[in-house]
Amino acid sequence: MSHLQRALRWIALFAIVVLAAPAWAQPAANSQELAQQQQQRRIDQPGNNAPVWREVRSGRAQSTLVPGPEIGVLVLSSGQTWRALHGGPIPLYGGGLLIVVVLAIAAYFLLRGTIELHGKPTGRLIQRFGSFDRIAHWSTALTFCIMAVSGLVILFGKMVLLPVTGHTLFSWLAALSKNVHNFVGLLFILSLLATIVAFIRDNLPQAADFKWIATAGGLFGGREAPSGRFNAGEKGWFWIGVVFLGIAMGVTGVILLFPNFDQPRTTMQIANIVHDIAAVLFIALGLGHIYMGTIGMRGAYQAMRTGFVDETWAKEHHELWYDDVKSGKVQARTQDAVLPDMQRQH
Ligand code: HEM
Repeated sequence: MSHLQRALRWIALFAIVVLAAPAWAQPAANSQELAQQQQQRRIDQPGNNAPVWREVRSGRAQSTLVPGPEIGVLVLSSGQTWRALHGGPIPLYGGGLLIVVVLAIAAYFLLRGTIELHGKPTGRLIQRFGSFDRIAHWSTALTFCIMAVSGLVILFGKMVLLPVTGHTLFSWLAALSKNVHNFVGLLFILSLLATIVAFIRDNLPQAADFKWIATAGGLFGGREAPSGRFNAGEKGWFWIGVVFLGIAMGVTGVILLFPNFDQPRTTMQIANIVHDIAAVLFIALGLGHIYMGTIGMRGAYQAMRTGFVDETWAKEHHELWYDDVKSGKVQARTQDAVLPDMQRQH
């Protein structure tokens, strides 16, 4: 490299240093300026720390000696948003939705009553659910009900229960609900996964589902359109409720249950909001399922309790599945027995 080139390079370097010097010095000047302003403010307006708090609430990390994620952030303004949502629209609209769903189910039952069979039971039974299906289902059903009740106490308890029970009883209930929720939560996730594995194959969409949806599955009168092992309504519960909302509950629940993975506060806030909203929707949908699975349809509860349904029930509610069993395309045990529930009807 020639002397000239070397000299030019040094000149350029020097120029950069000279030009950049003020910028490097700026933060030092800024914080010095800030410190001077603070001192002046202490004299002129004792106690007015507004600019300090403005800086603190900016969410920008300040310097601290304690290591760790977010430690430099004293106040997270998103916390205000979380508090406003968690104490406002979520319980308000969520609570409203649950009340509307319960009233709608009650009105439907009063108007439509239990959906009965049109034909006579034959007394020949077909196996609809094996023991794995039923164990997975009832452990999910039980843990779901425990999670729903304890979760509703945590979300609505302060607004709904506290004015009635008073502080002592409520704090006992709230502590019990929190601990039960934390421990049963993992059991719920495991049984939910087992339920997804057990029923996913027969919840895949079929052409017949569209006709079932078009006739609203005979829920508002008229004959039920033919369906496979599960009809479109059950498939909707499975994909929207069990899979989508179930997984959303599981993932956000685990994030909230194990805060020791250095999750930032924003992650915890978002997980909590998603958990609350998904929970309300899951319970609202679940109420519909539980209604149909208990008093809504004659013989449905029997199906999941004993695993067997009468031929007539299978033919009227799941005709395509019944045809597959009859043709041998689907393997299902059959046996002769009279279901006390069916006999009583006719
Ligand atoms: C007390 C609560 C519950 C009752 C009484 C109940 C009742 C029933 C009944 C009777 C059936 C059989 C319906 C048929 O033969 O087609 C069924 C199916 C099913 N249940 Fe439940 N259930 C309850 C809670 C739950 C919960 C909490 C979940 C999941 C989170 C669930 C998921 C399922 C699934 C996946 C099926 C198979 C049909 C489908 O895929 O939709 N159940 N339930």
